[in-house]
Amino acid sequence: MKAGILKEKDDSRVALLPENIKKLSGDHVEVMVEKDAGAGAFFPDHAYEEAGAGIFLRKRVLKEADLLIQINPLTDEEFRALKKTTVVITMLNPLAHAERVRMLSDLGLTVFSLDMIPRITRAQAMDVLSSMATIAGYKAVLDAANQLPKFFPMFMSAAGTIKPAKVLVLGAGVAGLQAVAVARKLGAVVEVFDVRSEVREQVQSLGGKFIEVEGAREDAAAGGYAVEQTKEYEEKQRQLIHDHVSRSDVVITTAQIPGKKAPVLVTRAAVEAMAPGSVIVDLAASSGGNCELTQNNKTVIHNQVTIIGKSNYPAGMPSDASRMLARNLMNLLQLMITKEGVLQPDFNDEIIRGACVTHQNEILNERLKSLIK
Ligand code: NAI
Repeated sequence: MKAGILKEKDDSRVALLPENIKKLSGDHVEVMVEKDAGAGAFFPDHAYEEAGAGIFLRKRVLKEADLLIQINPLTDEEFRALKKTTVVITMLNPLAHAERVRMLSDLGLTVFSLDMIPRITRAQAMDVLSSMATIAGYKAVLDAANQLPKFFPMFMSAAGTIKPAKVLVLGAGVAGLQAVAVARKLGAVVEVFDVRSEVREQVQSLGGKFIEVEGAREDAAAGGYAVEQTKEYEEKQRQLIHDHVSRSDVVITTAQIPGKKAPVLVTRAAVEAMAPGSVIVDLAASSGGNCELTQNNKTVIHNQVTIIGKSNYPAGMPSDASRMLARNLMNLLQLMITKEGVLQPDFNDEIIRGACVTHQNEILNERLKSLIK
């Protein structure tokens, strides 16, 4: 079996590191790595070669590999040119790309999307979304601290006492909790909103203050994700958030409902109520943004408030981002490759079935199937 690692386009991460190649390659598995695949993350070609991989041009990897591993998906043209038996592991974001899923199904390719791995305990070690959200939460705070014209911690000096910065985190999932932890470590006073009251204790254990809006819809069956809220609730929440935003120096927004546009939590009016020099980092920028004024992959200054809409923080920390991704991937590969080196995903396994977008002209993931007819 030939496994292929491709160079990412406009992204300095790489799916597997040389140390993983050592484990993966052997008598029955040959690893083909595209030239310069790891260069952006500081893993040179010779390190892959020393680990047992061969270095090739992209065309050859695409043509010969039985298993292709890539963080960002191939182009439609590249997908169309693959042999039908190729198995692809990538991050497809299929809930937002129905057309593409239909195309892959028509092509008869077997495609796994890392962002569809169910958030269950057994799959934690493969949870690429959590790994990347951890980086985003960490970097968002550092970016905000860098932009803010104030200190994060309280300072007592000969020049007097300086008050700590007030940070508001909206959404306490993986990115949000990481943001709380880092902002607290830097000495800020941190407040947090989330529609899921079950996160209250986690927020408090990190030293954040949990602010609740009563009447949220929660769904235990949503697997740790939020569900859409009623219009009345959203209005009530918006008002309360407005008050807290106006008193914050930094707002970090991370609210998402998978497959849906990000909820707008910070209105233009709330931004205009903030003090000049304040900073908003909107991690949900790529799905529409939690702030009304966010622009994806742009920094906007409105009324002297800086709104950062960077949507690929992990690529800005490519070594550890790649390391985390690679560990997640290696754990997933254990469910797909037998000890004898045969690529044999067990489609009865809930993780494999959940992550599988298309196989033999069928859409396997139940959630996708019901959305894409
Ligand atoms: P998550 O699903 O673990 O957390 C989202 C949180 O938002 C949940 O706790 C949920 O209950 C909460 N939420 C949903 N609706 C809400 C509302 N109306 N009000 C308050 N809270 C609400 O998601 P995760 O993995 O932490 O990712 C967070 C965001 O960060 C996502 O939009 C994701 O796409 C984005 N992200 C951004 C990156 C970047 O570089 N900008 C990189 C990685 C992730």
